[in-house]
Amino acid sequence: MIVVGVDGSRAGLEAVAWAAREAALRGVPLRVAHAIYAWACETDQGRYSEIAQWMRQGAEAVLEAGADRARRLEPALTVETAILPGDPREALIREGAQAELLVVGNHGLSAVRGLLVGSVAYGVAGHASCDVVVVRESPAATNGEIVVGIDGTAQSGHVLEFAFAEAALRQADLRAVHVWNRYETGGGIQPVPGDWRETEQHEFRQLKEALAGWCERYPDVKVIEEIVQGHPVDALRAAARAADLLVVGSRGRGGLAGMALGSVSHAMLHHAPGPLAVIRQTR
Ligand SMILES: Nc1ncnc2c1ncn2[C@@H]1O[C@H](COP(=O)(O)OP(=O)(O)OP(=O)(O)O)[C@@H](O)[C@H]1O
Ligand SMILES: [Mg+2]
Repeated sequence: MIVVGVDGSRAGLEAVAWAAREAALRGVPLRVAHAIYAWACETDQGRYSEIAQWMRQGAEAVLEAGADRARRLEPALTVETAILPGDPREALIREGAQAELLVVGNHGLSAVRGLLVGSVAYGVAGHASCDVVVVRESPAATNGEIVVGIDGTAQSGHVLEFAFAEAALRQADLRAVHVWNRYETGGGIQPVPGDWRETEQHEFRQLKEALAGWCERYPDVKVIEEIVQGHPVDALRAAARAADLLVVGSRGRGGLAGMALGSVSHAMLHHAPGPLAVIRQTR
């Protein structure tokens, strides 16, 4: 099952559209979910019961708009709706524990504040136990290319697994981008004197090694290997400009203890040009 969070916003509806296509391709049901205050779900009597009922009716309308969009796009899809009690982040993360994928918009109804990513999208991408796709308000591209960012860590396995499966499912090409840098993070210069071509060849071999097994498993997926020297955020953003989906891991090489997301995944939440998949690396 795929769970998609809606809140009545346009980004939420785009999330539904993306999730409906994905659910249809995977052959799984879609659950459209909207969270409201827990007391509004429970209160049937007393002086606030009318307000609670009004809030539940509002939630039903938001869910119906979402479900309707999904059914119109994918008439054969099984679509269910759910009002979730409590904080939307906690509620969606709870739902996500039973789901194979959680989909949200990059922002919601409070988008007027000018933030590039809302607190629900951010909280869910950082803390859900399942993979999360964050969809932007502008409709996703359909150029038939998926981009995956690979940092060469041992945990890239799940990221590649998701990216290859997705490319096969969507019959898209897969652009595997490995970004490397001459400089150590923090401004220090690597003490190794430089034949950068040699370093680049080494990075290229690493990328090939990381991809080898997956290319064998998915012989029909056309893979484009790309080595870029620079900062991963700039490079991934540029590579994903016309892509249908950008896939990154939730953590990378650095991984300061206590940070929910690595710095690249965090930055991509704000700056990815299109749909972004954040893949859990430890399961
Ligand atoms: N109450 C909710 N129930 C279900 N999903 C929600 C709810 N609120 C937000 N979402 C999901 O999260 C996405 C991002 O919305 P979010 O609330 O993070 O942004 P925002 O409203 O712009 O900012 P914030 O609420 O942090 O001020 C929405 O597009 C929707 O997919
Ligand atoms: Mg919101």
